[in-house]
Amino acid sequence: MDLDLYLKKKKKIIDNFLSNYIASKKKQRECPAKLSEAMGYALMAGGKRVRPILAVAAYEAAGGTSKSMVPVAASLELIHTYSLIHDDLPAMDNDDFRRNKPTTHKVFGEGTAILAGDALLTDAFNIIAKTKADPATLIKVIGELSYGAGPDGMVGGQTVDLMLEGKKAAKKDLIYIHSHKTGALIRASIRIGAIMAGCSPAVLKALTAYGDNVGLAFQIADDILDIIGTKEEMGKTTGADDARGKNTYPSTFGLEESHKKAEKLVNDSLKAIQYLNKKAEPLAEIARYIIARRN
Ligand code: IPE
Ligand code: IPE
Ligand code: MG
Ligand code: MG
Ligand code: MG
Repeated sequence: MDLDLYLKKKKKIIDNFLSNYIASKKKQRECPAKLSEAMGYALMAGGKRVRPILAVAAYEAAGGTSKSMVPVAASLELIHTYSLIHDDLPAMDNDDFRRNKPTTHKVFGEGTAILAGDALLTDAFNIIAKTKADPATLIKVIGELSYGAGPDGMVGGQTVDLMLEGKKAAKKDLIYIHSHKTGALIRASIRIGAIMAGCSPAVLKALTAYGDNVGLAFQIADDILDIIGTKEEMGKTTGADDARGKNTYPSTFGLEESHKKAEKLVNDSLKAIQYLNKKAEPLAEIARYIIARRN
């Protein structure tokens, strides 16, 4: 299959939904213009839309066909964008650039950046609430999303990431950080796709195992990119995470071992979905792409 074409097509659908969402936010008088501008700045800054695309690919792999998957998938990008706005703040990673552009707090100020993140987080659930789909399914989706993004998931991972900054993390803590700060939302994206398709428990289990593996592989690849410099072209300083004493895979295991670990995780993710039919081919290709990507 042509993965580039697949990613392009799916990204376009998500981008369309998100630009309509921001346009309607800007029209709503209740939402201050400064806030909708900051939300739009961060949301339309050139993200790859990996989480929504994974959600749609899992949905299709599990046999789903309805259009109601699009808003639910897009809500994942609101959560992801909020997490990045907050991640870049001086109180967290203190990054001035993301995707070649000044970070949201650099343009709009810290207060507005915090609030733009809060707004995106909250509106993600509003988008799901307004989606035309079976209410019982949407409640399950809300449960998955809040679990993956919240204290037992992404926020928990970000907390330990900060707690252990400048300290040498034990291997189990490093795995906790990575599988939670990044893995949890990726796992949730895939499970949400599967749940929206109304799949069997066996398929959900297989897709969850896929999600756990690609979720961890994604953050290892992010750490490797931070070191080998491709993110520098994207406006980041090479090895910024290492320089600020972050616990990364390369700083703990070395680059070669990190590559190997990421490859093993991808192989395990492929094994987990092996028995699914051809509909799971995009998921397999995306897993390979996650460690081969250059940004
Ligand atoms: C970067 O995520 C931050 C992590 C959670 C690893 P992405 O690589 O998905 O970021 P964008 O949205 O495509 O820039
Ligand atoms: C980000 O991890 C994880 C979340 C935002 C939840 P990083 O701090 O490694 O992401 P980048 O490198 O700034 O994109
Ligand atoms: Mg961080
Ligand atoms: Mg960061
Ligand atoms: Mg990083």
